[in-house]
Amino acid sequence: MSADQDLTGQPPAAGRSAFHESARAQVAGSATYVDDIPEIRGTLYAAPILSTVAHGRLLDVDTAAALAMPGVRGVILARDIPGDRVLGNFSHDEPVFAHSTVQHIGQVIGVVVAESVMQARRAARQVRCHIDTLPAILNLRDALKAQSYVLPPVFVQRGDAVQALKSALHTLHGTLEVGGQEHFYLEGQIAYVLPQEQHQWLVYSSTQHPGEVQHWVAHALGIDQHAVRVECRRMGGGFGGKETQAGHLAVWSAVAARKLNAPIKLRLDRDDDFLVTGKRHPFAYDYSVGFDDSGRITGLQLMMAVNCGFSADLSGPVADRAIFHADNAYFLQDVHIASYRCKTNTQSNTAFRGFGGPQGMIVIESILGDIARQLGLDPLAVRRRNLYGVTARNVTHYGMTVEDNILEPLLSKLALTADYPRRKQAISAWNASSPVIKRGIAITPVKFGISFTATLFNQAGALVHVYTDGSVQVNHGGTEMGQGLNTKVAQIVADELGVALDQVLATAADTSKIPNASATAASAGTDLNARAAQYAARKVKGKLAQFVAGLDRCGAGAVCFGGGQVITPTATRLFADVVRQAHANRIQLWSDGFYRTPKIHYDQAALSGRPFYYFAYGAACAEVAIDTLTGESRVLKVDILHDVGTSINPAIDIGQIEGGFVQGMGWLTTEQLVWNDKGHLSTHAPSTYKIPATGDIPEHFKIDLWPEPNREDNVFGSKAVGEPPLMLAISVLEALKEAVAAARSGVVRLDAPATAENVLRSLKA
Ligand code: MTE
Ligand code: MOS
Repeated sequence: MSADQDLTGQPPAAGRSAFHESARAQVAGSATYVDDIPEIRGTLYAAPILSTVAHGRLLDVDTAAALAMPGVRGVILARDIPGDRVLGNFSHDEPVFAHSTVQHIGQVIGVVVAESVMQARRAARQVRCHIDTLPAILNLRDALKAQSYVLPPVFVQRGDAVQALKSALHTLHGTLEVGGQEHFYLEGQIAYVLPQEQHQWLVYSSTQHPGEVQHWVAHALGIDQHAVRVECRRMGGGFGGKETQAGHLAVWSAVAARKLNAPIKLRLDRDDDFLVTGKRHPFAYDYSVGFDDSGRITGLQLMMAVNCGFSADLSGPVADRAIFHADNAYFLQDVHIASYRCKTNTQSNTAFRGFGGPQGMIVIESILGDIARQLGLDPLAVRRRNLYGVTARNVTHYGMTVEDNILEPLLSKLALTADYPRRKQAISAWNASSPVIKRGIAITPVKFGISFTATLFNQAGALVHVYTDGSVQVNHGGTEMGQGLNTKVAQIVADELGVALDQVLATAADTSKIPNASATAASAGTDLNARAAQYAARKVKGKLAQFVAGLDRCGAGAVCFGGGQVITPTATRLFADVVRQAHANRIQLWSDGFYRTPKIHYDQAALSGRPFYYFAYGAACAEVAIDTLTGESRVLKVDILHDVGTSINPAIDIGQIEGGFVQGMGWLTTEQLVWNDKGHLSTHAPSTYKIPATGDIPEHFKIDLWPEPNREDNVFGSKAVGEPPLMLAISVLEALKEAVAAARSGVVRLDAPATAENVLRSLKA
């Protein structure tokens, strides 16, 4: 690469802050989302019929009134499903449409199809469902007591936590409750299904996982997977909420499209989106921790209860990832973790940025803050004392050796650049003389495992096509949701072929191009797909190199690609000229690439092994202020030092860090989901559900990147960035606890989200 640069003087595409490939079109409003696709004549619109009861026997569905309404063309119910009435997901526990029972308010019983969106929505409200109400479990603690589970409990232990707690110098017992989070993607869930010739189907879906949408649609229609093609050019945000749950809309639309033999579009209204789809899993924890005088943990017993909602969805792997991240950055010698995957009569909770990792880390950070305050020590000092070691104390509770540990230098650098010791003193002085407004500061680290824990998902494919004018198309199994995946893939391909970035176009995710692709998730989109694309480009380049080497009678290894040129020891040609000539000589100008992550293995039954290829690290320093009379809070200052390895695109990576942090801040401060005593989600619109706005962004928000490549051989030396920064926001909750501690004595309990009410409760407790 550097040789190419020297020869041509043109810098490579990767490592630069190139614009997001869609940025201009998005700003101009010309970037296409599913609802922007010109509709085929005869398109009809579906709207969901929702359960109004949290749990009950569904006796009868009376559709007469709805069918009599203007424009209504049909009502689709479970009996209209030609294939399996149970969704084709891996746990196989969720009906496509509720039939014999309903299991939460907002569960979809069927859809009404009409000639306009509003006709369909109005008619859906006129469908009368006769439901015999059954007792519902609405609360996580109740589910735990009733042993109501979607999946059996999982226990992980190392050493002897009970004995360690008995012999501990100090012990603390505590509980913590952490709420869920609505994804609030700007583009809501949507699908548009078009019947094609000979019983084939085209599905436009706003999905992170086109391959699974294809499989689900085929499963519900009772047809072969090859008859269904799913396309997704981009999403207006997914955040995990479109990893599985986008598939439901596609299946509902496909069943309707088959029955009515018409193209069907289904776009959920925002309120319905809240009521129908699952969210981040709420967690509840009980713990007992033993520690020494220095604040070092000597034993930990941790119970995590996970609110999965009414079906398993991705709850198993989410709860597993919470177990894998209950250590966060810290070595736990004697530890016992119990994880209960509870079933409640609420929406089926699903992936959300961090995928259980945030819910694992938050409890250990809370515990370490408590230990520090109990001992009267600086929480940062206590955290550092518990960090994983480099040569000893470096094996996780699931048996993986932490080989790439940069925690100590990262934390000490951030403490220095954020001026932590001086500011901590200044804050103490402020608090001593300020009776109402109290401030707090906290630094918390992140160590996030990169790879899907299910090893089989860690594979990817790509296609690189070079056209005769030298322009390039790349297609891969990943999806673009705003995170910049397509831009990074194009940057890698451009450099591999030595062409300018604007010569490379990334095209829509399409199941007919790359089959069986994994979800774009686990932050591994670039790691997997950019590598697959790089391999595909490398194969094309190899063919061109051989061709040119033949012309110039040199070795193929002596041929360089860079700056839009192909250079041999004796000649320099334009890339486009080489391509044209190669085509004339019948050289293949396109290729596939395939990548599988090396080194990983994992025993699902024992929950042990090396589930992660590497760790992404980071740390944040947050300063907050609370009003002790009203409970209101503000985040004043944030400094972040985050590890993305060698950045493929610093602007995009910093954008991911900013966005992830702010989204995490929303989860832990203002975003509160409230279900009433009947199980109705009362906060189902932005009027009552408060995501961060521009005014909530801290005035001081400084982000630095850790200057070291990934120590594992990952594409461009980069590290995944999509999810890890969300967990940096745990520093905000810890800073809030510090502020509360400045106003009162004793152990601070502050549940998340730290709304004004919860902060007041914490002050009074
Ligand atoms: N960034 C934007 N702008 N929009 C999104 O929906 N999703 C996040 C993260 N960043 C998301 C995002 C989640 S949950 C994941 S897993 C990763 O992006 C997925 O993309 P990647 O693997 O390519 O990073
Ligand atoms: Mo992200 S929660 O893995 O889609």
